[in-house]
Amino acid sequence: MSDIPAIEVRGLRRVFDVRQGLFAKPRQVVAVDDVSFSVPAGSVLGIVGESGCGKTTLARMILGLLPPSSGDVLIDGQRLGDLDRRARARLIQPVFQDPFSSLNPRRRVRDIVAMPLVAQGNIAGDEVKRRVGEALERVGLSAEQGSRYPSQLSGGQRQRVAIARALVLRPRIVVCDEPTSALDVSVQAQILNLLAELRKDLGLTYLFISHNLAVVEHVASEVAVMYLGRIVERNESEALFAHPQHPYTRALLDSVLTPEPGLGVPDVGLGDTMPDPANIPPGCRFHPRCPLAFERCSHETPKLTPNEAGFVECLLAEE
Ligand SMILES: Nc1ncnc2c1ncn2[C@@H]1O[C@H](COP(=O)(O)OP(=O)(O)OP(=O)(O)O)[C@@H](O)[C@H]1O
Ligand SMILES: [Mg+2]
Repeated sequence: MSDIPAIEVRGLRRVFDVRQGLFAKPRQVVAVDDVSFSVPAGSVLGIVGESGCGKTTLARMILGLLPPSSGDVLIDGQRLGDLDRRARARLIQPVFQDPFSSLNPRRRVRDIVAMPLVAQGNIAGDEVKRRVGEALERVGLSAEQGSRYPSQLSGGQRQRVAIARALVLRPRIVVCDEPTSALDVSVQAQILNLLAELRKDLGLTYLFISHNLAVVEHVASEVAVMYLGRIVERNESEALFAHPQHPYTRALLDSVLTPEPGLGVPDVGLGDTMPDPANIPPGCRFHPRCPLAFERCSHETPKLTPNEAGFVECLLAEE
């Protein structure tokens, strides 16, 4: 395993201008706010947090699909901006939540899986065919299924197609954004097991986003908890689940998961004051919902405070 992190992000920030009416003044939404971390090669960083906290925005910046407002992304030690699209595709690939909308319905499975190879522009037809066959086999799809259209497959099979497409260039890093949230519960475990097996066999590094804490606990070596665009706690998975330190992490762990897959909103039991990323509270951004908030929290911004293997951003932890 190399010392160069597979993913490193430094001071990553993304602001969106959101216009709510034709003549309304645009509001600024800070979707990701000064996020820094690195993911060692071969490990799995899980990212959890409520809907709208910035998980997908973070993932899209790391994939090079969305330019950051500021900050840097390094993939395997190389700045994302210095890599062209093809080089980037060879290093890092996505698997998204909804395999239906991410697969072109008018193409056969084998052509969908071949796309990243064809886009490289220099791989011979025979080689493309061979590698598509290999990728399909790896994810447990037959050659016959390769000649079908996405609509002729089940949800789980479609997600296998998306995984085959992500792997066909043999990338080192895969960003999974809610990869099983749209699937029936019975199929989720199969896809999770497949992802785990592929990681082991191919030595992959995952950034694994999910609102389902049980899933993250199962797959991640480290976990980062996001709240309103910031990572408020990060630690080794076991330590984070055994000794959550941030009050928000504790609320998440106490929460009842929504039974609706794909809804992405855990009921954190913190009332219905949904956080508004266009209107981030001063001081600690979590203080209006925090059961442990005290006077200083409304005007003092907590600093990153180291804990076992990561950090927590809470004034209580600084004491
Ligand atoms: N293209 C965009 N234009 C404007 N605002 C955006 C855009 N993309 C995301 N946002 C806003 O940025 C914030 C973070 O969104 P994001 O999709 O990253 O959250 P998320 O954590 O992935 O949520 P979910 O769990 O629902 O997938 C939200 O307030 C969202 O409305
Ligand atoms: Mg998302």
